Amino acid sequence: MQAITSKLGHQSIKHSPAISSFKSLYPLSDDHYYGYVNPRFASNIATGGTGPLVRKGTGGRSSVSGIVATVFGATGFLGRYLVQQLAKMGSQVLVPFRGSEDSPRHLKLMGDLGQIVPMKYDHRDENSIKAVMAKANVVINLIGREYETRNYSFEEVNHHMAEQLAMIAKEHGGIMRFIQVSCLGASPASSSRMLRAKAAGEEAVTRELPEATIMRSAVMIGTEDRILNPWAFFAKKYGFLPLIGGGSTKIQPVFVADVAAAIVSSLKDNGTSMGKVYELGGPDIYTMHELAELMFDMIREWPRYVNIPFPIAKAISSPREFLLNKVPAPMPVPTIFNLDAIQALATDNIVSKDALTFEDLGLAPHKLVKKCLLNLIHEDTIWIIFERLVQLISASFTRFLEYSRVQPDKEEK
Ligand SMILES: NC(=O)c1ccc[n+]([C@@H]2O[C@H](COP(=O)([O-])OP(=O)(O)OC[C@H]3O[C@@H](n4cnc5c(N)ncnc54)[C@H](OP(=O)(O)O)[C@@H]3O)[C@@H](O)[C@H]2O)c1
Repeated sequence: MQAITSKLGHQSIKHSPAISSFKSLYPLSDDHYYGYVNPRFASNIATGGTGPLVRKGTGGRSSVSGIVATVFGATGFLGRYLVQQLAKMGSQVLVPFRGSEDSPRHLKLMGDLGQIVPMKYDHRDENSIKAVMAKANVVINLIGREYETRNYSFEEVNHHMAEQLAMIAKEHGGIMRFIQVSCLGASPASSSRMLRAKAAGEEAVTRELPEATIMRSAVMIGTEDRILNPWAFFAKKYGFLPLIGGGSTKIQPVFVADVAAAIVSSLKDNGTSMGKVYELGGPDIYTMHELAELMFDMIREWPRYVNIPFPIAKAISSPREFLLNKVPAPMPVPTIFNLDAIQALATDNIVSKDALTFEDLGLAPHKLVKKCLLNLIHEDTIWIIFERLVQLISASFTRFLEYSRVQPDKEEK
């Protein structure tokens, strides 16, 4: 955090009013050229420039949507759904990644040849950020983390990185849309440090780019989610599930692909979503206990539920936080016993009454049971159901044949 903060403090980005070319992508007209008025940063990709925004084709994967999006955090959970939806409509997606070359590999097949461009970068090297943004006209920030590491604090990841991206996007001069993904419940008054950092991140982004769109997502559910999967693993391993605070906190889980669809929908609108904050929650509100029961019912596991009062849960999760910067070794990733997440559980996390939601983006979020939980049923289970169905049909058919063979005999008698 300190490194980034001091770096940001000394960099040459000017605090000018919002950039003039920050417009909606649709409708497209001649004066919406990007990279025309303002020079772009040097880049290590594509050489011929991207020219004016044009849409060509039928709107499928091999079309040209006119969107060239740099998606920060694309290697994460939401990233894979967002990249897939962007690529499916013929967008070019620049995927900044850190670490191994393998981390963006699964994304490459989601788009047409050359449409998904992984680019190595380092968030502490401003030039590498400029390079991955150079050819883009859209920037989407999905970077976030719900626990601290020895190298990165909540504030650095959830606040300062967002601020830095907004500053660079502003200086860039050709970014037409900036979308910041935040968390439902982000507030400077939250008891969670992560949610306070998210709120500060939102505030910094809108200060730099008032036209930026903020998407506050509720807890996301999907194949790779970080709520149901840890519960299922824990219950399978230990035969019980700890319910922190009795599992009475209310949440409004949302299907991950719906959040991706909301981002894409806001890019496609007429600029109406610019400068607005959306709260993206699913159609139903559950307590943590209800959600766990729903999931375990679906996967046919019935663990015991053990109530863990808040003070005990905090005591169990504290040693990691205490030792984090004291032990010269990486600490385990917290799952169920994450101190900051436990602090957040003290209050319900649901969409506020007057917030803009999916409806305002012309979307209806999927119901959890229908859409997401069915995805969690293992393929084998589907095969077993299929086999049983075949057995049932063939048994009924055999019985029918036997019955029709028996009938003439009965008549003879
Ligand atoms: N998952 C949820 O239920 C949920 C709910 C509400 C809001 N959100 C927010 O939605 C956004 C996307 O969530 P997600 O579940 O897709 O997150 P995720 O799976 O944890 O992915 C986070 C992304 O951020 C990157 N990242 C994390 N720390 C970084 C660092 N220090 N430097 C550079 N990159 C870093 C990760 O890169 P690596 O792959 O290299 O680590 C990854 O690409 C986040 O902002 C999250 O806070 C998530």
